[in-house]
Amino acid sequence: MKKEVKVVVTGAAGQIGYSLIPRLVDGNIFGDRVVNLSLVEIPQVVSKLEGLAMELDDSNFPNLGSINYTDKFADASKDADWFLLVGSIPRGIVYNGKKIEERSDLLQINGGIFVNQGKAIAKHGDENAKVLVVGNPANTNALIGKSAGNIPSQTWMAMTMLDSNRAKSMLAKKISRNISEIKKMIIWGNHSPTMYPDFENAMINNESVANLINDNDWITSEFIPNVQQRGKAVIDARGASSATSAAKAALDTVLACENVTPSGDCFSAAVYSDGAYDVPEGIMCGFPLMTTPDGEIEIIRDLTLSDNARSRLNISVNELLTEKEAVKDLL
Ligand SMILES: NC(=O)c1ccc[n+]([C@@H]2O[C@H](COP(=O)([O-])OP(=O)(O)OC[C@H]3O[C@@H](n4cnc5c(N)ncnc54)[C@H](O)[C@@H]3O)[C@@H](O)[C@H]2O)c1
Repeated sequence: MKKEVKVVVTGAAGQIGYSLIPRLVDGNIFGDRVVNLSLVEIPQVVSKLEGLAMELDDSNFPNLGSINYTDKFADASKDADWFLLVGSIPRGIVYNGKKIEERSDLLQINGGIFVNQGKAIAKHGDENAKVLVVGNPANTNALIGKSAGNIPSQTWMAMTMLDSNRAKSMLAKKISRNISEIKKMIIWGNHSPTMYPDFENAMINNESVANLINDNDWITSEFIPNVQQRGKAVIDARGASSATSAAKAALDTVLACENVTPSGDCFSAAVYSDGAYDVPEGIMCGFPLMTTPDGEIEIIRDLTLSDNARSRLNISVNELLTEKEAVKDLL
Protein backbone atom coordinates (compact mmCIF):
# COMPACT_ATOMS: atom_id res chain seq x y z
CA MET A 1 0.00 0.00 0.00
CA LYS A 2 1.22 3.50 -0.83
CA LYS A 3 2.46 5.58 2.10
CA GLU A 4 0.71 8.65 0.73
CA VAL A 5 -2.70 9.14 -0.75
CA LYS A 6 -3.82 12.03 -2.92
CA VAL A 7 -7.46 13.08 -2.64
CA VAL A 8 -9.20 15.54 -4.94
CA VAL A 9 -12.36 17.21 -3.61
CA THR A 10 -14.55 19.40 -5.81
CA GLY A 11 -17.04 21.84 -4.33
CA ALA A 12 -14.46 22.23 -1.59
CA ALA A 13 -15.78 25.62 -0.40
CA GLY A 14 -19.32 24.29 -0.05
CA GLN A 15 -21.19 23.01 2.97
CA ILE A 16 -20.34 19.34 2.54
CA GLY A 17 -16.71 20.24 1.81
CA TYR A 18 -16.34 22.10 5.09
CA SER A 19 -17.45 19.08 7.08
CA LEU A 20 -15.74 16.48 4.88
CA ILE A 21 -12.26 17.78 4.24
CA PRO A 22 -10.89 17.99 7.81
CA ARG A 23 -12.07 14.46 8.47
CA LEU A 24 -10.11 13.14 5.49
CA VAL A 25 -6.89 14.02 7.30
CA ASP A 26 -7.72 13.14 10.91
CA GLY A 27 -6.27 9.61 10.66
CA ASN A 28 -9.60 7.76 10.84
CA ILE A 29 -10.03 7.17 7.11
CA PHE A 30 -6.55 6.57 5.68
CA GLY A 31 -4.82 5.39 8.86
CA ASP A 32 -1.24 6.55 9.15
CA ARG A 33 -0.89 7.43 5.45
CA VAL A 34 -0.07 11.04 4.63
CA VAL A 35 -3.04 12.67 2.88
CA ASN A 36 -2.30 15.22 0.14
CA LEU A 37 -5.32 17.35 -0.63
CA SER A 38 -6.19 18.90 -3.96
CA LEU A 39 -9.20 21.13 -3.53
CA VAL A 40 -11.20 22.40 -6.50
CA GLU A 41 -13.72 25.20 -6.79
CA ILE A 42 -15.22 27.38 -9.48
CA PRO A 43 -13.22 30.56 -10.25
CA GLN A 44 -15.68 32.84 -8.40
CA VAL A 45 -15.02 31.23 -5.00
CA VAL A 46 -11.66 29.47 -5.33
CA SER A 47 -9.96 32.17 -3.25
CA LYS A 48 -12.08 31.14 -0.25
CA LEU A 49 -10.10 27.93 -0.14
CA GLU A 50 -7.14 29.87 1.20
CA GLY A 51 -9.13 30.25 4.43
CA LEU A 52 -9.89 26.53 4.58
CA ALA A 53 -6.22 25.72 3.96
CA MET A 54 -5.26 28.03 6.84
CA GLU A 55 -7.73 26.28 9.14
CA LEU A 56 -6.42 22.86 8.15
CA ASP A 57 -2.87 23.98 8.97
CA ASP A 58 -4.05 25.44 12.26
CA SER A 59 -5.77 22.18 13.21
CA ASN A 60 -2.42 20.34 13.52
CA PHE A 61 -3.55 17.14 11.83
CA PRO A 62 -0.49 14.88 11.98
CA ASN A 63 -1.35 13.13 8.68
CA LEU A 64 -1.92 16.25 6.63
CA GLY A 65 0.50 16.43 3.71
CA SER A 66 0.26 19.10 1.02
CA ILE A 67 -2.78 21.29 0.40
CA ASN A 68 -3.33 22.68 -3.09
CA TYR A 69 -6.35 24.55 -4.31
CA THR A 70 -7.29 25.51 -7.82
CA ASP A 71 -10.12 26.17 -10.25
CA LYS A 72 -8.46 23.89 -12.82
CA PHE A 73 -9.68 20.35 -12.36
CA ALA A 74 -7.17 18.77 -14.75
CA ASP A 75 -4.24 20.26 -12.80
CA ALA A 76 -5.69 18.95 -9.55
CA SER A 77 -6.13 15.45 -10.96
CA LYS A 78 -2.52 14.49 -11.54
CA ASP A 79 -1.88 11.02 -10.04
CA ALA A 80 -4.79 11.34 -7.64
CA ASP A 81 -5.97 8.15 -5.90
CA TRP A 82 -9.39 9.41 -4.84
CA PHE A 83 -11.82 11.87 -6.40
CA LEU A 84 -14.71 13.09 -4.27
CA LEU A 85 -16.86 14.97 -6.78
CA VAL A 86 -19.09 17.03 -4.52
CA GLY A 87 -19.36 20.19 -6.61
CA SER A 88 -22.32 20.59 -8.88
CA ILE A 89 -24.79 23.27 -9.84
CA PRO A 90 -27.91 23.00 -7.66
CA ARG A 91 -31.49 23.33 -8.82
CA GLY A 92 -32.98 26.83 -8.33
CA ILE A 93 -29.91 28.94 -9.10
CA VAL A 94 -29.55 31.30 -12.02
CA TYR A 95 -27.00 29.89 -14.46
CA ASN A 96 -26.02 31.83 -17.61
CA GLY A 97 -29.05 34.09 -17.08
CA LYS A 98 -31.58 31.25 -16.74
CA LYS A 99 -33.16 29.91 -13.54
CA ILE A 100 -32.52 26.17 -13.40
CA GLU A 101 -35.81 24.55 -12.38
CA GLU A 102 -36.09 21.39 -14.48
CA ARG A 103 -34.20 18.18 -13.71
CA SER A 104 -33.47 17.87 -17.45
CA ASP A 105 -31.71 21.30 -17.44
CA LEU A 106 -29.80 20.29 -14.33
CA LEU A 107 -28.73 17.06 -16.02
CA GLN A 108 -27.46 18.93 -19.07
CA ILE A 109 -25.51 21.61 -17.18
CA ASN A 110 -23.89 19.27 -14.71
CA GLY A 111 -23.42 16.74 -17.45
CA GLY A 112 -21.13 19.13 -19.30
CA ILE A 113 -19.02 19.54 -16.17
CA PHE A 114 -18.78 15.80 -15.64
CA VAL A 115 -17.67 15.15 -19.23
CA ASN A 116 -14.61 17.31 -18.64
CA GLN A 117 -13.95 15.85 -15.21
CA GLY A 118 -14.28 12.30 -16.55
CA LYS A 119 -11.76 13.00 -19.32
CA ALA A 120 -9.31 14.57 -16.88
CA ILE A 121 -9.56 11.67 -14.41
CA ALA A 122 -8.90 9.17 -17.20
CA LYS A 123 -5.91 11.15 -18.45
CA HIS A 124 -4.31 12.34 -15.21
CA GLY A 125 -5.67 10.24 -12.33
CA ASP A 126 -4.03 7.11 -10.97
CA GLU A 127 -4.91 4.10 -13.11
CA ASN A 128 -6.66 2.55 -10.08
CA ALA A 129 -8.31 5.77 -8.95
CA LYS A 130 -11.64 5.59 -7.18
CA VAL A 131 -14.25 8.23 -7.93
CA LEU A 132 -17.23 8.98 -5.71
CA VAL A 133 -19.84 11.33 -7.15
CA VAL A 134 -21.83 13.15 -4.47
CA GLY A 135 -23.09 16.13 -6.52
CA ASN A 136 -26.63 15.59 -7.77
CA PRO A 137 -28.04 14.07 -9.90
CA ALA A 138 -25.30 11.76 -8.67
CA ASN A 139 -25.99 8.54 -10.61
CA THR A 140 -26.26 10.20 -14.00
CA ASN A 141 -23.38 12.59 -13.32
CA ALA A 142 -21.29 9.50 -12.55
CA LEU A 143 -22.46 7.77 -15.72
CA ILE A 144 -21.44 10.80 -17.80
CA GLY A 145 -18.04 11.06 -16.10
CA LYS A 146 -17.30 7.36 -16.42
CA SER A 147 -18.37 7.30 -20.08
CA ALA A 148 -16.16 10.29 -20.90
CA GLY A 149 -13.01 8.61 -19.60
CA ASN A 150 -13.75 4.92 -19.53
CA ILE A 151 -10.61 3.47 -17.96
CA PRO A 152 -11.79 0.02 -16.74
CA SER A 153 -9.33 -0.08 -13.81
CA GLN A 154 -10.74 3.17 -12.40
CA THR A 155 -13.85 2.71 -10.28
CA TRP A 156 -16.75 5.16 -10.55
CA MET A 157 -19.45 5.27 -7.89
CA ALA A 158 -22.38 7.50 -7.01
CA MET A 159 -23.13 7.95 -3.34
CA THR A 160 -26.07 6.12 -1.76
CA MET A 161 -24.37 5.62 1.63
CA LEU A 162 -26.32 8.52 3.13
CA ASP A 163 -29.57 6.77 2.21
CA SER A 164 -28.24 3.54 3.68
CA ASN A 165 -27.21 5.32 6.90
CA ARG A 166 -30.64 6.95 7.16
CA ALA A 167 -32.32 3.57 6.68
CA LYS A 168 -30.13 1.96 9.34
CA SER A 169 -30.92 4.74 11.77
CA MET A 170 -34.68 4.36 11.29
CA LEU A 171 -34.56 0.56 11.61
CA ALA A 172 -32.33 0.67 14.69
CA LYS A 173 -34.69 3.11 16.43
CA LYS A 174 -37.74 1.02 15.55
CA ILE A 175 -36.32 -2.11 17.20
CA SER A 176 -34.21 -0.37 19.89
CA ARG A 177 -30.92 -1.82 18.67
CA ASN A 178 -27.57 -0.19 18.00
CA ILE A 179 -26.95 0.98 14.44
CA SER A 180 -23.67 -0.92 14.32
CA GLU A 181 -25.58 -4.21 14.61
CA ILE A 182 -27.43 -3.70 11.30
CA LYS A 183 -25.70 -5.30 8.33
CA LYS A 184 -26.50 -5.51 4.62
CA MET A 185 -28.55 -2.32 4.41
CA ILE A 186 -28.75 -2.01 0.65
CA ILE A 187 -30.07 0.92 -1.37
CA TRP A 188 -31.07 -0.22 -4.84
CA GLY A 189 -31.50 2.06 -7.85
CA ASN A 190 -31.22 5.82 -8.10
CA HIS A 191 -30.21 8.34 -5.41
CA SER A 192 -33.63 9.97 -5.73
CA PRO A 193 -37.08 9.47 -4.21
CA THR A 194 -37.46 6.27 -6.29
CA MET A 195 -34.62 4.49 -4.46
CA TYR A 196 -35.47 1.19 -2.80
CA PRO A 197 -34.18 0.70 0.77
CA ASP A 198 -34.06 -3.08 1.06
CA PHE A 199 -35.39 -4.00 4.50
CA GLU A 200 -35.76 -7.66 3.45
CA ASN A 201 -32.03 -8.35 3.10
CA ALA A 202 -30.99 -6.27 6.14
CA MET A 203 -29.73 -8.47 8.99
CA ILE A 204 -28.92 -8.34 12.70
CA ASN A 205 -26.83 -11.25 14.01
CA ASN A 206 -27.97 -13.49 11.14
CA GLU A 207 -31.59 -12.63 11.84
CA SER A 208 -33.71 -10.78 9.31
CA VAL A 209 -34.52 -7.22 10.39
CA ALA A 210 -37.87 -7.58 8.59
CA ASN A 211 -38.77 -10.53 10.86
CA LEU A 212 -37.71 -8.61 13.95
CA ILE A 213 -39.87 -5.65 12.94
CA ASN A 214 -42.81 -7.71 11.73
CA ASP A 215 -44.85 -4.60 10.92
CA ASN A 216 -45.58 -4.35 7.22
CA ASP A 217 -47.69 -1.22 7.61
CA TRP A 218 -44.79 0.64 9.22
CA ILE A 219 -42.43 -0.58 6.48
CA THR A 220 -44.61 0.54 3.58
CA SER A 221 -46.20 3.67 4.98
CA GLU A 222 -43.34 5.04 7.08
CA PHE A 223 -39.95 3.42 6.61
CA ILE A 224 -39.69 3.32 2.79
CA PRO A 225 -41.20 6.77 2.08
CA ASN A 226 -39.28 8.38 4.95
CA VAL A 227 -35.95 7.08 3.65
CA GLN A 228 -36.87 8.15 0.12
CA GLN A 229 -37.94 11.65 1.24
CA ARG A 230 -35.41 12.25 4.02
CA GLY A 231 -33.30 14.61 1.90
CA LYS A 232 -36.32 16.86 1.34
CA ALA A 233 -37.28 16.68 5.04
CA VAL A 234 -33.80 17.92 6.00
CA ILE A 235 -34.02 20.75 3.45
CA ASP A 236 -37.44 21.76 4.83
CA ALA A 237 -36.15 21.73 8.41
CA ARG A 238 -32.72 23.24 7.85
CA GLY A 239 -33.23 25.47 4.85
CA ALA A 240 -30.27 23.78 3.19
CA SER A 241 -29.49 20.27 2.03
CA SER A 242 -27.87 17.65 4.26
CA ALA A 243 -24.23 18.50 4.74
CA THR A 244 -22.66 16.94 7.81
CA SER A 245 -24.48 13.64 7.28
CA ALA A 246 -23.57 13.72 3.57
CA ALA A 247 -19.92 14.30 4.49
CA LYS A 248 -20.04 11.40 6.97
CA ALA A 249 -21.56 9.18 4.29
CA ALA A 250 -18.81 10.08 1.81
CA LEU A 251 -16.22 9.21 4.47
CA ASP A 252 -18.04 5.94 5.22
CA THR A 253 -17.91 5.08 1.50
CA VAL A 254 -14.17 5.77 1.30
CA LEU A 255 -13.62 3.69 4.43
CA ALA A 256 -15.69 0.83 3.02
CA CYS A 257 -13.62 0.87 -0.19
CA GLU A 258 -10.29 1.05 1.63
CA ASN A 259 -11.00 -1.98 3.84
CA VAL A 260 -11.96 -5.56 3.06
CA THR A 261 -15.70 -6.02 3.61
CA PRO A 262 -16.37 -8.30 6.60
CA SER A 263 -18.21 -11.51 5.71
CA GLY A 264 -21.96 -11.19 6.22
CA ASP A 265 -21.96 -7.53 5.34
CA CYS A 266 -21.92 -5.28 2.27
CA PHE A 267 -22.00 -1.57 1.59
CA SER A 268 -24.13 0.64 -0.61
CA ALA A 269 -23.12 2.73 -3.61
CA ALA A 270 -24.23 2.96 -7.21
CA VAL A 271 -21.85 1.42 -9.75
CA TYR A 272 -21.97 0.71 -13.46
CA SER A 273 -24.41 -2.08 -14.16
CA ASP A 274 -23.05 -5.10 -16.01
CA GLY A 275 -26.47 -6.77 -16.01
CA ALA A 276 -26.32 -7.99 -12.38
CA TYR A 277 -29.78 -8.68 -10.92
CA ASP A 278 -31.16 -8.15 -14.46
CA VAL A 279 -30.58 -4.40 -14.19
CA PRO A 280 -29.90 -3.20 -17.76
CA GLU A 281 -26.25 -2.69 -18.59
CA GLY A 282 -24.90 0.84 -18.82
CA ILE A 283 -26.60 2.72 -15.98
CA MET A 284 -25.17 3.63 -12.58
CA CYS A 285 -27.41 1.71 -10.20
CA GLY A 286 -27.33 1.19 -6.43
CA PHE A 287 -26.20 -2.36 -5.65
CA PRO A 288 -24.85 -4.34 -2.68
CA LEU A 289 -21.06 -4.03 -2.87
CA MET A 290 -17.99 -5.56 -1.27
CA THR A 291 -14.31 -4.70 -1.22
CA THR A 292 -12.19 -7.78 -1.94
CA PRO A 293 -8.78 -8.54 -0.38
CA ASP A 294 -7.25 -7.25 -3.68
CA GLY A 295 -8.95 -3.90 -3.15
CA GLU A 296 -11.48 -4.43 -5.94
CA ILE A 297 -15.02 -3.15 -5.55
CA GLU A 298 -17.44 -5.87 -6.62
CA ILE A 299 -21.18 -6.36 -6.77
CA ILE A 300 -22.42 -9.06 -4.38
CA ARG A 301 -24.51 -11.25 -6.65
CA ASP A 302 -26.19 -13.90 -4.51
CA LEU A 303 -28.94 -11.96 -2.77
CA THR A 304 -32.61 -12.59 -3.39
CA LEU A 305 -35.09 -9.92 -4.37
CA SER A 306 -38.78 -10.51 -3.60
CA ASP A 307 -41.41 -9.64 -6.21
CA ASN A 308 -42.21 -6.49 -4.25
CA ALA A 309 -38.52 -5.49 -4.15
CA ARG A 310 -38.15 -6.23 -7.84
CA SER A 311 -41.08 -4.04 -8.82
CA ARG A 312 -39.78 -1.16 -6.66
CA LEU A 313 -36.31 -1.56 -8.18
CA ASN A 314 -37.82 -1.51 -11.68
CA ILE A 315 -39.38 1.92 -11.00
CA SER A 316 -35.98 3.32 -10.04
CA VAL A 317 -34.24 1.63 -12.97
CA ASN A 318 -36.78 3.14 -15.36
CA GLU A 319 -36.02 6.56 -13.91
CA LEU A 320 -32.29 5.98 -14.49
CA LEU A 321 -32.99 4.94 -18.08
CA THR A 322 -35.02 8.14 -18.59
CA GLU A 323 -32.17 10.24 -17.16
CA LYS A 324 -29.73 8.43 -19.44
CA GLU A 325 -31.91 9.23 -22.44
CA ALA A 326 -31.96 12.92 -21.42
CA VAL A 327 -28.15 13.11 -21.58
CA LYS A 328 -27.52 10.71 -24.46
CA ASP A 329 -25.69 13.42 -26.42
CA LEU A 330 -23.10 13.53 -23.60
CA LEU A 331 -22.40 9.78 -23.48
N1 LIG B 1 -25.55 11.90 -2.93
C1 LIG B 1 -26.01 12.38 -1.77
O1 LIG B 1 -26.41 11.61 -0.88
C2 LIG B 1 -26.05 13.86 -1.49
C3 LIG B 1 -26.42 14.31 -0.24
C4 LIG B 1 -26.42 15.69 0.03
C5 LIG B 1 -26.08 16.57 -0.97
N2 LIG B 1 -25.76 16.11 -2.20
C6 LIG B 1 -25.37 17.01 -3.27
O2 LIG B 1 -24.03 17.44 -3.04
C7 LIG B 1 -23.80 18.65 -3.75
C8 LIG B 1 -23.07 19.65 -2.87
O3 LIG B 1 -23.84 19.97 -1.73
P1 LIG B 1 -23.39 21.18 -0.77
O4 LIG B 1 -24.41 21.23 0.32
O5 LIG B 1 -21.95 21.07 -0.41
O6 LIG B 1 -23.64 22.41 -1.75
P2 LIG B 1 -22.99 23.86 -1.71
O7 LIG B 1 -23.80 24.68 -2.65
O8 LIG B 1 -22.80 24.32 -0.30
O9 LIG B 1 -21.54 23.64 -2.33
C9 LIG B 1 -21.34 23.21 -3.64
C10 LIG B 1 -20.04 23.82 -4.09
O10 LIG B 1 -19.71 23.25 -5.34
C11 LIG B 1 -19.07 24.25 -6.08
N3 LIG B 1 -19.07 23.87 -7.49
C12 LIG B 1 -20.08 23.94 -8.38
N4 LIG B 1 -19.68 23.51 -9.58
C13 LIG B 1 -18.39 23.14 -9.44
C14 LIG B 1 -17.42 22.63 -10.34
N5 LIG B 1 -17.70 22.41 -11.61
N6 LIG B 1 -16.20 22.36 -9.86
C15 LIG B 1 -15.89 22.59 -8.59
N7 LIG B 1 -16.76 23.10 -7.68
C16 LIG B 1 -18.00 23.35 -8.12
C17 LIG B 1 -19.83 25.53 -5.74
O11 LIG B 1 -19.07 26.69 -5.99
C18 LIG B 1 -20.09 25.33 -4.25
O12 LIG B 1 -19.07 25.92 -3.44
C19 LIG B 1 -25.19 19.11 -4.22
O13 LIG B 1 -25.33 18.74 -5.58
C20 LIG B 1 -26.14 18.30 -3.36
O14 LIG B 1 -27.38 18.11 -4.00
C21 LIG B 1 -25.72 14.78 -2.47
